[in-house]
Amino acid sequence: MIFEFNMPVNLMFGNGVIKKNSEKFKLGKKALIVTGRNSARLSGAFDDISDVLFASGIEYVLFDKIVSNPNLAIVAEGTKFAKENNVDFIIAVGGGSPLDAAKAIAALYTNDIESIDLILKKLEKPSLPIIAVPTTSGTGSEVTQYSVLTIPSMKTKKSFASPWSFPKVAFADPRYTYSLPNGITIDTAFDAFSHLLESYYSKRSTLFNDVIAIEGIEAFAQCMENLKDNEITKTTREKLMYASCLGGITISHTGTTLIHAMGYSLTYFRKFSHGRANAMIMAEYMKFNEASVPEKTKKVLNLLGFSGFDEVEDYFGFGNDKIPVLSDEECKMFATLAMGQGSVKLNPRLVEEDDIYNLYRKIFGGS
Ligand SMILES: [Fe+2]
Repeated sequence: MIFEFNMPVNLMFGNGVIKKNSEKFKLGKKALIVTGRNSARLSGAFDDISDVLFASGIEYVLFDKIVSNPNLAIVAEGTKFAKENNVDFIIAVGGGSPLDAAKAIAALYTNDIESIDLILKKLEKPSLPIIAVPTTSGTGSEVTQYSVLTIPSMKTKKSFASPWSFPKVAFADPRYTYSLPNGITIDTAFDAFSHLLESYYSKRSTLFNDVIAIEGIEAFAQCMENLKDNEITKTTREKLMYASCLGGITISHTGTTLIHAMGYSLTYFRKFSHGRANAMIMAEYMKFNEASVPEKTKKVLNLLGFSGFDEVEDYFGFGNDKIPVLSDEECKMFATLAMGQGSVKLNPRLVEEDDIYNLYRKIFGGS
C-alpha cells in the first residue's frame, strides 16, 4: 500500500465554531472580506465575523462584488482594491464563487502577474493567508487548493491549483446554510456528490481517499430522501456540509474527472448551475465507466439504494424539467472544450474526444 495524504487546512466544523475560536482570526492587522452581494449577511456569518474582528482589534475592508462563476476581471478588481487597502489576509465568505475568487485575489496580491497567468503560469510566491467560511455545502473549496474561474477568452471555466491556495483555517458552520433556498441546497449537494463520486473513480484515488469518499457518499445518501421531498431539516444541512467537506478533502488529492470536464460548457453556454450541470451527466458517466471500475460502481449504486443506472438518472433529474437539447455542432464544440480540461486524464476509463461527443449526444441529443 502506497499513498500520501496532506490536509494543511485547519478545519473547524460545527455550530458556533467562529465565536468559539476567535483567536484563529489573528493572521494580521487588517483583513479583506471577499463575498457575494447577500449570502454573507443573510447566513449570519458576516455578523459573527465582524464581532470577532472587532473584539480582536482587527480592521477590515469589504469586497462584496463576487457573482456566480467569477471571471478574471472581477478578481483583478478585487486585487486592486486589496492593494489600495494594504490588507494582511483574506476572509472568504460564501459559496464556491467567493471562496475561489478569494484564492485568486490572494495569489494576485503577492505575485506580480496578470490574472490570466493564474491559469497559464506557476505561482512563484506564497499567497496571502486565507480564512474560508462556506455558506453552501457543495464545492468544498474551503478545504482545497483549487480555484475555478471563468475565462471568457477560452469560452470555459478553468481551475488553478497551488499549495499556497489552501485556506489556513476553514470554519464550516452548518447554521450558515439554514437561510439557503432549497433549490440551491439541492444543486450544491449534487456538486458535493459529484466530487465524492469522481474522486472515488479517479485514477489518482487511493485506499485512503476511498474511505473518505465512501464516508461522504454515505452521508449524502442519508440526505437523499429529504432533498427530493424538499423538506430539508437542520440535521440534513449538517450532514450535507459534512459530505461537502469530505468531498473537498478527497478531491484535493485526486482531482475531479469527466463530469466536471463536461459540465463546464453547460454552465458557460447554457447557464445551468454547476451542480445541476453535473447532475445531468451523472448516470451516463457511471455507465460509461462501469467496465473500468465495476466494484466501485456496484458499491456506489448500493450505497445510494439503486439497482441500476435508470434510478440514478431519475434521482439526479428531479426538479429539473428542462434538459437542454444540444445541436450536433454544440456537442462537437463542447466535446472539444471538455477534452481540453486536465480532469479528463484522471477519468478511470481512457477518454477520446469522440467518447465525449457521444455522451453529449446521448444525454442531450433530444431523442
Ligand atoms: Fe464542483
